[in-house]
Amino acid sequence: MRRVTLIEGDGIGKEICESVIKIFEAAKVPIEWDKKPAGLECYQKHGTPLPEETLNSIKLNKVALKGPTTTPIGTGHKSVNVTIRKSLELFANVRPAKTLPGIETKFGNIDIVVIRENIEDTYGAIEHMETPDVAQTLRIITRQGSFMIHSFAFQYAKTNNRKKLTCVHKANIQKMSDGLFLNTFRELSTQYPDIETEDIIVDNLCMKLVTNPEKFDVLVLPNIFGDIVSDLCAGLVGGLGLAPSANIGKNLAVFEAVHGSAPDIAGKNIANPTAFILSSTMMLKHIGMKDYAERIERALENTLKAGIKTKDLGGNYSTTEFTQAIIKEINKNQTYIELPAKKKENEIKFFDPPAPTPSEDWQIIGIDLFIEWNNIETLPEVPKKVEKLELKMISNRGTKIYPPPVPEILMVNWYRCRYLSNQALSHQDILEFLKKITELQIKWMHIEILRKHNDKELFSKAQGE
Ligand code: NAI
Repeated sequence: MRRVTLIEGDGIGKEICESVIKIFEAAKVPIEWDKKPAGLECYQKHGTPLPEETLNSIKLNKVALKGPTTTPIGTGHKSVNVTIRKSLELFANVRPAKTLPGIETKFGNIDIVVIRENIEDTYGAIEHMETPDVAQTLRIITRQGSFMIHSFAFQYAKTNNRKKLTCVHKANIQKMSDGLFLNTFRELSTQYPDIETEDIIVDNLCMKLVTNPEKFDVLVLPNIFGDIVSDLCAGLVGGLGLAPSANIGKNLAVFEAVHGSAPDIAGKNIANPTAFILSSTMMLKHIGMKDYAERIERALENTLKAGIKTKDLGGNYSTTEFTQAIIKEINKNQTYIELPAKKKENEIKFFDPPAPTPSEDWQIIGIDLFIEWNNIETLPEVPKKVEKLELKMISNRGTKIYPPPVPEILMVNWYRCRYLSNQALSHQDILEFLKKITELQIKWMHIEILRKHNDKELFSKAQGE
């Protein structure tokens, strides 16, 4: 018996878990569930949304099937999903979107796999209120994180006989962060000549997904774009009730439906368990029980083909009736012998990330000083020259307002003052600069050190600079 951690979660979690437990029993899947709590209800009961014993169970069993968990909006505890993904380094989120038999959609036959980077980007949740009017989120993309997700995506495409891998980005605007993501993809692509590669800007992708979805095979995206585009792809094949997913790391994996805890329908016995069932069959394939997975998928497909559907798909079957229909299908061919667990076929290879790139030959040439200045009728009164640094530019909401002319734009009480030097600077120089600025009682929020390498400036310019 293979032990697997099972997290029911919140809302419809209990109902869809019950469905999978019954289906696995009927299909005689040799799995023993290790039930552990997580989510909002768990928080209310145990004072934590993700107890240590739950994380330890996943670490021990190496595989978990997780029901949806509720995350309070704006306040409250951090998302359990994000915590699980981050603390277990489940860096790849795999979300297949495949047209199912019996499900009519406006978009024809679709078979797209979305591979979303699962750790970085705005999900670092590095946020600050810079002033009472200005909130900041840092968007972090790293060479190492990009390497891990792209090498996984290429390996996934190779082992699953997929033909094309599309890198999705916004490198036309975020030239540095998305640029790093895209360049890492391009560098790796040379090692996989058999896989066709292309890249596309995320907005263009969204348009093409609803006009020519059949053009896409496997997509690889930074975290936030992956989050949005994978829901779009779920919509293409019939909605959230049908979309499974896997969170995969080097040694551990957590499988869950894309949808949330659906509090609006919880406890009504009308939730569609399909996405969760498909997540569970992804899990079975992951642990070498492909035959069991296919047995269950066939029964699910036959049920849908027979027009047996839950309310979200226009049917009138309850969760339990739908589950019973699948079990009936499983039992139809029930001359089963116990299937042996096989060695995983086509196992995905994981690679170590590249070592940190040294920056000894990078030169400090200035700083961006971010200040709060409340009189937005006047330019902030900051000195033109401090020690070795000269004021070269001030911007507001990304647009240059100094040197003049001041454009007619909406200004807020948060300014970036760019000081540059024509000589190489040290951190000590920056410290002297900050001392002077502090003496002048300028309310500074943070600084960014500006560097260059071989005459290439390693920071972006303001609009109009
Ligand atoms: P949601 O996915 O729970 O629901 C969106 C809509 O889809 C609702 O109308 C719901 O009834 C419907 N729906 C979702 N799953 C369904 C299913 N299996 N069968 C039939 N209808 C279904 O998204 P929402 O409402 O934005 O989030 C609710 C809560 O779930 C939030 O606290 C959110 O943070 C959390 N959430 C958790 C996720 C996870 O644990 N993996 C993922 C997404 C959201």
